[in-house]
Amino acid sequence: MFAINFNKTAMHIFYGKAALIDYLKPSKTNYSKIGFVPTMGALHQGHLSLIQQSMSENEITVVSIFVNPTQFNNLEDLEKYPRTLEDDLKKITSLSLKIIVYAPPIDDVYEGRPSSGYFNFDGLEDQMEGKFRPGHFNGVGTIVKRLFEIVEPTNAYFGEKDFQQLQIIKKMVRKKNLKINVIGCPVFRESNSLAMSSRNELLTPEQKKEASIIYKTLVDAKAKFKTNSATVTEKWVQKSFEKNSNFKLEYFQIADEEKLLPCMRKNKTKKYRAFIAVFFNNVRLIDTLSLN
Ligand code: PAF
Repeated sequence: MFAINFNKTAMHIFYGKAALIDYLKPSKTNYSKIGFVPTMGALHQGHLSLIQQSMSENEITVVSIFVNPTQFNNLEDLEKYPRTLEDDLKKITSLSLKIIVYAPPIDDVYEGRPSSGYFNFDGLEDQMEGKFRPGHFNGVGTIVKRLFEIVEPTNAYFGEKDFQQLQIIKKMVRKKNLKINVIGCPVFRESNSLAMSSRNELLTPEQKKEASIIYKTLVDAKAKFKTNSATVTEKWVQKSFEKNSNFKLEYFQIADEEKLLPCMRKNKTKKYRAFIAVFFNNVRLIDTLSLN
């Protein structure tokens, strides 16, 4: 373990998996509950709330900070992804010195050139993010599986902003028979309702204000969907973004929460959700809202 000194305090930070696995061994033999919050850093209040939930439900909390190259299908996106380790550590320390951080270099996670395995998530991977970011969910599956093998958590916490990712990880855990509870936590929003995201760091305060139109559109779409079909609602959203040239809508989709399939005809027994991905100032933002 490396205990680093940070503002005259010490925290537990590991850069190598071998030392982390060793450190966690006694907790595993004691049957202590281990909570795990995987992140790519640039921590915001949404991440901190996941960490706090983990701390209240487990004896030990591990947070990973790793910008995973294999889940980016676009090199420019990977390069400009915010990396703010020092700041992230300050935020974690302000919550508790007991939190264990795993912040590995690439070669601690991937041997040789980083590459993804192939995963079958029963079609969940073919919709929305999967359509527009080919290979993304193979990258997510690869890294999350690897991190689960290292940390062996009891409970793992993921934000519902990435609802498709959450469903995919639940599916992976079921298919691989892993004894891990995957816990989804509600979207955290800025005061203007913009969904919190590490990518918001790439926007100025003014741009963040303007980007709140994304959530407003979701709320209006929810109202429209009450009395209209999914197709009518989707067309309405497309038209409203066409009028605003600062935004480039990548997709707006209404899908059922379980299989993530597009809603062709409303079915009262299903739960529906709106999913959106938009480029604003070359920053890709996603959001989601339950429609039930
Ligand atoms: O949601 C994220 O930040 C990432 O996809 C995750 C789960 C940390 C895997 O890299």
